[in-house]
Amino acid sequence: MSMLRTKSVEQSIADTEDPEFTLKKSLSALDLTVFGVGVVIGAGIFTLTGRAAHDVAGPAIVISFIVAAIACGLAAMCYAEFASTVPVSGSAYTFSYASLGELFAWIIGWDLILEMFLGASVVAQGWSAYLGSLMEQLGAPIPAAIGYGGTVDLMAVLLVIVLGVLITVGIRESMRVNLVLVAVKLFIVLFVIIAGLLFVNPANYSPFVPDAAPRDNGSGLTQPLLQFFSGIEPTAFGVGGIFAGAALVFFAYIGFDVVATTAEETKRPQRDLPIGIIASLIICTILYGAVALVVTGMVPYDKLDPAAALANAFAFHGQTWMATVISAGAVAGLTTVVLTLMIGATRIIFAMSRDALLPRRLAKVHPRFRTPWVISLIVTVVVALVAGLTPVGVLEEMVNIGTLSAFVLVSVGVIVLRRRRPDLERGFRVPLSPWLPAVSAAVCIYLMLNLTVETWLRFLIWLAIGFVIYFAYSRRHSRLAKGGDLYTASAGTSRS
Ligand code: ALA
Repeated sequence: MSMLRTKSVEQSIADTEDPEFTLKKSLSALDLTVFGVGVVIGAGIFTLTGRAAHDVAGPAIVISFIVAAIACGLAAMCYAEFASTVPVSGSAYTFSYASLGELFAWIIGWDLILEMFLGASVVAQGWSAYLGSLMEQLGAPIPAAIGYGGTVDLMAVLLVIVLGVLITVGIRESMRVNLVLVAVKLFIVLFVIIAGLLFVNPANYSPFVPDAAPRDNGSGLTQPLLQFFSGIEPTAFGVGGIFAGAALVFFAYIGFDVVATTAEETKRPQRDLPIGIIASLIICTILYGAVALVVTGMVPYDKLDPAAALANAFAFHGQTWMATVISAGAVAGLTTVVLTLMIGATRIIFAMSRDALLPRRLAKVHPRFRTPWVISLIVTVVVALVAGLTPVGVLEEMVNIGTLSAFVLVSVGVIVLRRRRPDLERGFRVPLSPWLPAVSAAVCIYLMLNLTVETWLRFLIWLAIGFVIYFAYSRRHSRLAKGGDLYTASAGTSRS
């Protein structure tokens, strides 16, 4: 049963008070909301809106955004409940340590590392793509060999290094840079909505839900897992297309969960974390719905550019300068996504090393900057290498599967912790528990089944590596194993 030992919530909180491992508490609810919006709005809205409307949903992509928002909203409530109960760095990892046990906590931490490392790398590549097109529009193109899609994407590498320095110097400083860039990004998104309204032609909304049509969904390893097992081929457009669109634009919402990783740096976590998580999701949902509505009103859905629909909807109407402004905004906007995902990655590894599931010396906090500098360095190097050297377009779905698997375990964890520790004070409670958390888990599993066989295989390999590390190292070194605090799942009593 040792694999299912759980770390008590009290112990998790007490650990944050160990002076050697204490982070600075400086963030407010507003900081967290800005942080959330900063990480959520990114490559998804700038590129996927066009692709999803063009390929599978038509103007009904607006409904896809709402469906994806409902799925995320359910998970967000579960995150908010947990974050307000266990306000400790590490997000879903820490939550599952307190509810489902060490092995699940390890798996989830491992999945979050996947989400954040690859998310940061993928978005850094997207950033480099927008930088390339911006510089070209400005008449100073970046040489192909060192830009997006080149042998080494040097631009993406440089971005990651600059951001790596920033996160080492301090979270407060990172947040300040973040604030400016998020403001630019919001301005651009509002610009698309307001300026775009001038070019909307209501005729483009009909048919709103185009008739279902056969869809080339790939075969073998590139087909969705659900199709692989059931043989049922999903169609494009129609009602099915709305759901397929939702699975695709889910990526655009990823990131609100990263807010929970900053729990320990929040001044009043029990109140501010639920506000930060839920407010950033609501703001993004409204903006995404509006952007989707405007863009599909500007251009007939079958003429949308699947790669850069937002900028090109304006180019379609001859407004090239507006397209340039949007590309510039995307460059600013994607920077904050990479920054925040890198901070999230460091905080997850920090929590896991403090528990000694990873080497504990990694988690030492810098005496002056009060940030986990060793981990920041590792994150920077790995993200820079992956962003600089992996081919474009290979890793996106891996980010989705890492995130969705974390959502599933957090949703189940809420139910388990309510049973096991009904006494704990909860700053926020998911309504209708256990039903809503159960629906949340089911919806996320459904979205996971829509990912390709190839993604599942890669994910299983990632998990296998995680298991090897767990059984070879973490299980024996775990602080809990060494009697730090034994709150065993089987006995349900504290032995500390
Ligand atoms: N939600 C983030 C984006 O759209 C990951 O880039």
